Amino acid sequence: MPPRNLDRLTRVYGPATWDVYERLDESLNPQGPDWLHELAGRYLQPGDVVLDAGCRDAEHLIRLVRANQITGVGVDPVGIHIERARSAVDAAGLADRITVDQRVMHELPYDEGHFDFVWCRDVLEQVDDLDGALGEVARVMKPMARLLVYTTFATHLLDGRDAEMMRRHIGNVEGNLEVGHVEAAFRRADLRIERKDAIGTEWREYAEERTQPGSRALLRLSRLRRQRDDIIAGHGQDIYDHIEANLHWEIFQFLGKLLPVVYVLTRP
Ligand SMILES: C[S@@+](CC[C@H](N)C(=O)[O-])C[C@H]1O[C@@H](n2cnc3c(N)ncnc32)[C@H](O)[C@@H]1O
Repeated sequence: MPPRNLDRLTRVYGPATWDVYERLDESLNPQGPDWLHELAGRYLQPGDVVLDAGCRDAEHLIRLVRANQITGVGVDPVGIHIERARSAVDAAGLADRITVDQRVMHELPYDEGHFDFVWCRDVLEQVDDLDGALGEVARVMKPMARLLVYTTFATHLLDGRDAEMMRRHIGNVEGNLEVGHVEAAFRRADLRIERKDAIGTEWREYAEERTQPGSRALLRLSRLRRQRDDIIAGHGQDIYDHIEANLHWEIFQFLGKLLPVVYVLTRP
């Protein structure tokens, strides 16, 4: 007697299934994160003054300044980032065109209408005073200036346990992964959405096809969990929990539980 599920097994191992797998081994030529620089370039003119809000080590600010004949200011509250940013700016020979300051977005020592463009990449997730930060950024923007935001939101696929784990991410601020919360803050700061692009999984596909960071994150996650007690004893529960959550970030983007989104905002 053949097994009762022979039809299903035959379908599973038949050519229709394998054809699809073969198709999935071919790249869909996803767009990569360089697109964000291309997008910024469309709004920049030589001589413009740009703010990088949450500049970290100034990697992106240096690239923007080099590519667009502009000058820039980077702010970040974390001392080690500012030290690295200053070294990177010096090493790039751009100290006359880039200044970096240890500051928060919600206290910017610049006059109203000082900047032609604001770059804010992967920062809003961590901003504790979202209203203060966006209000202050809007204040220092020229009337025709653009604010480019790249940030990540939770989707309906991020279930209760996932969300609970993400709350143990030390960097993120509760609520800032909610699209409604962030877009309401844009409105309160009088910032109008001119353009909104959901990046979806494309940047992840792009990176995975080249350097496999998702695979590396999973490998690290397995090793983290297998050394759980030791790592907690040596480094603390908070660090263990944070790293566990952070190693899910890219994977959740792949799975559509987290959605990266790009906005271009103006002052109406
Ligand atoms: C994920 S990193 C992204 C850094 C950089 N923009 C990039 O794309 O490589 C987030 C950065 O936001 C900074 N940050 C967090 N809260 C901030 C605030 N209130 N104002 C300015 N920067 C902030 C952090 O220190 C960190 O450097």
